[in-house]
Amino acid sequence: MPMEPHTEGQHGAAAAPPGRDSGALAVAAPVLRDPLAGGLELFLRFPRLAEVLPWVVLGAYPTPVSRLHLPGATRGDGNPRGVEVWVKREDLTSPHYGGNKVRTIEGHIGRALARERRRIWATGAYGSNHALATAVHAARAGLQAGAILVPQPATATAKANLRALAATSCTITTAGHWLLRPGATLRLLRDPAQVVMTPGGAIPLGALGHVSAALELAAQVARGELPAPAHVVVTAGSTATAAGLLVGLHLAAALELGWRRPPQLVAVPVAPNPFASAPMIALLARATLRLLRASLGTERGAADRIDASALRRGLWVDSRHNGAGYGHPSPSGEAARRLYVEATALAAQRPDAEPPPVLDLVYTARSAAGMLALLPEAEGPVLHWMTKSAAPLAAASDADLQRLPRPLLRWLAQPEVEAPLGSPIAEGR
Ligand SMILES: Cc1ncc(COP(=O)(O)O)c(C=O)c1O
Repeated sequence: MPMEPHTEGQHGAAAAPPGRDSGALAVAAPVLRDPLAGGLELFLRFPRLAEVLPWVVLGAYPTPVSRLHLPGATRGDGNPRGVEVWVKREDLTSPHYGGNKVRTIEGHIGRALARERRRIWATGAYGSNHALATAVHAARAGLQAGAILVPQPATATAKANLRALAATSCTITTAGHWLLRPGATLRLLRDPAQVVMTPGGAIPLGALGHVSAALELAAQVARGELPAPAHVVVTAGSTATAAGLLVGLHLAAALELGWRRPPQLVAVPVAPNPFASAPMIALLARATLRLLRASLGTERGAADRIDASALRRGLWVDSRHNGAGYGHPSPSGEAARRLYVEATALAAQRPDAEPPPVLDLVYTARSAAGMLALLPEAEGPVLHWMTKSAAPLAAASDADLQRLPRPLLRWLAQPEVEAPLGSPIAEGR
C-alpha cells in the first residue's frame, strides 16, 4: 500500500467539492476519456493519436472567438475611433475552472490515469492557476491532487486563487523557494502511486493540448468565424502554451487549414530572461513537434512538412512588460487593464457591443500590453489569446483556510501588493 506523502506545511484533504460555481459564459462538459468525442481538433484531424496518447478531455471545445472594440487603442495612424481586435476565449475552457491550464493538464492527467497513479501534483506559486486547475480537474477525473507551492507577491488575484484552492480536496505542501522544489518532488516520488508534473506542465505532452487549440483556431478561421490573424499574442510563463501554439499555428499551415502562412506568435513573458525566452519556447516547440511526429508514425506527413527552424522565425518575444518581475503588476499591464475597463464601461452603453474579458494583473494584463504595443506595426488582424479563467472562484470556509500550511496563512494575512498609481486596481475598480 503506498504511503501517504508527509512533508512540512502539508494541507490535509478537505471535503469541499471543487468548482462549485459556474462561469456565466463557459459551457459545462463532462470529463471524457475519448478526445474525438470531446471535439479536440488535433485528434479529429489525426484520429490515430487517440490510440497512442493517453488523454482525458476536461474542457468544452471549441472555445469561442470574440471581436473586441478597444476605443482607447490606436494603430498608430491617428485614427481616433479605436481598434478592433480578436480574442480567443480560453478563459472559457471550463465553468469549473478555465483558462489555458485546462488544456495543459489533459495529457498529464490522462497519462496518470493510464498508469494507474493515485495522486497528481502540480508545482507553482502560492496563487498558481496551474495548481488550482489541477486540483479542480483531477478530482473530476477521479484522481487525487496535490500542490507544491512556492512564495510570490501577495496580490489580490493570487490570494483569491489560494483561497479557492483551499476549498478543494487538494493536498498542499510548501517549499520556501523554487530551488527547494526538487527536494520536495523527490520525497513525493518515493511513493510510486504519485506523479509530480514539471512546473506549469511544460513538457511536450502538456504543450500538445495547445497544438490542438491552435488547430481549433484555424478551423474557426476556415469556417469564417474570424479573419486569419497576422499575429497571435499570448502570455508565456512555463512556455507550454506558447510552444504548443507555435507548433499548432505551423501545423495548420501545413494542413492548409485557416491559413497558408502561419500567424506570427508574439509571446509576452511573465518572468525575466532566460525563463520564457525565445530559445526556451523554441526548444519546447521542437520537442513537441518530435513527440507529434513519433506519435503519428506513418501518418506524420503534415508534421514532416513543418520546418523546425521556421518555428523560431515565427516567434517574437516581447519582454518589455515585466515591470518589477513575476507576480507584480507591471505599469504597461496596468495601462492595458485601464483600457479594457474603459471598453467594458462603453460596451455597457451599447447593446450590440460585446464587453471585453476581464484582465488579471499577472498574466493577461501583460499579454494585452504586448498586443497594444504591437498594434502600430501589425501587418493584419491581431488576436489576443485570453488565458486566465473567467469562472467564479469557490469560496473557502474558515475551516478550509485553517487547514492550510502556516506559511500560506501568514502570506494570506500580508498586506496586498499594490498596483501602480492610477491603475484600475489602485482605484478599486
Ligand atoms: C493565466 C495564465 N496565463 C498564461 C500562463 C502562461 O502559460 P504557460 O505556463 O503555459 O506559459 C499562465 C501560467 O501559469 C497562467 O496561469
